[in-house]
Amino acid sequence: MSADPIPLLSVENLTIEIGGASVVDDVSFHVAPGRVMALVGESGCGKSLTSYAILGLLPDAAKRTGGRIRLHDLDLSALSEREFRKARGKDISIIFQEPSASLDPLTTVGSQIADAYRTHNKVSRAEAYDKARQMLADVGIPDPDRRLHQYPFELSGGMCQRIMISIALICSPRVLVADEPTTALDVTIQAQILDLMKKLVSERGTAIVLITHDMGVVADIADDVAVMYAGRVAEIAGVHSLFAKPCHPYTALLLASVPTLDDAPKSDLATIEGRVPTPDEFGEGCRFASRCPLVTDKCRIEQPPLFDCGDGHRSACWHIDRMPELMEAAA
Ligand SMILES: Nc1ncnc2c1ncn2[C@@H]1O[C@H](COP(=O)(O)OP(=O)(O)OP(=O)(O)O)[C@@H](O)[C@H]1O
Ligand SMILES: [Mg+2]
Repeated sequence: MSADPIPLLSVENLTIEIGGASVVDDVSFHVAPGRVMALVGESGCGKSLTSYAILGLLPDAAKRTGGRIRLHDLDLSALSEREFRKARGKDISIIFQEPSASLDPLTTVGSQIADAYRTHNKVSRAEAYDKARQMLADVGIPDPDRRLHQYPFELSGGMCQRIMISIALICSPRVLVADEPTTALDVTIQAQILDLMKKLVSERGTAIVLITHDMGVVADIADDVAVMYAGRVAEIAGVHSLFAKPCHPYTALLLASVPTLDDAPKSDLATIEGRVPTPDEFGEGCRFASRCPLVTDKCRIEQPPLFDCGDGHRSACWHIDRMPELMEAAA
């Protein structure tokens, strides 16, 4: 993985339990300023819980039982709820999939953006509105003066997502977590929002953790990728390395299942048979074993560590040497 030597955000050996099961298990990754780390994987793989832990927003049922999360030299995992409230919005922000669920329907968008600014800055209401107006221009909303006085229901889905991005970025946080930020939008708007995020990353040096199940989105915007499976990192690599030479069968299958232009399946591997195990089905071995075309007895009894495949590319598979065989079948 081509990484800046000084990461801004470090997730180290993060483990989160729900009802005694490690739904996030020993997850580590680092994100440098101005870079996008994508977390990918099927539903239920622990992407959202990992990102909520970064913001101190875990649901009551979930407990962080191991690991650390650091923002530079600040240990986020040691913050109290009160300290987290100060950090959220200012140092780290999140945007969710559904802007309509996160925006207050009864307050103008200008007021919501200005309030987000005033939470962390001692400025007058007029100054906060100026800042909001500037922010709307930065996220590509035409006629910001008029938009400031509108309510969310008066705006399109894409426009609302730009408002959410404005709220998240108005205090210039160093880290932005985006949980499926474009899934609810149509394809054209999705591309516009991704372009906007790319621009913000390069102009502001924001570090982004982008959660998606869409490999097309990953190819478009990510620098690095952590492929998660059933709560664990299956593979982690720079985006080019991952696409060119996947070293985990799960990644190879995910890539093979990306629809092509003519929508014809690329191979018989185009769908991944079976489903992600539920936490009560986790065993001692590799959690992907029950669906893996390369599975052997060893996989069922012993969890593979993350092996180095070169250049920071790592894969948790006992059979990396047999990947060419799988890739040939997928070609
Ligand atoms: N509040 C909760 N209570 C109980 N279990 C939960 C809760 N939130 C998540 N889980 C469980 O934790 C695991 C990881 O969930 P998470 O939401 O992080 O997955 P995800 O990768 O974000 O999935 P998706 O792609 O569907 O958003 C799943 O098994 C899920 O059922
Ligand atoms: Mg999720």
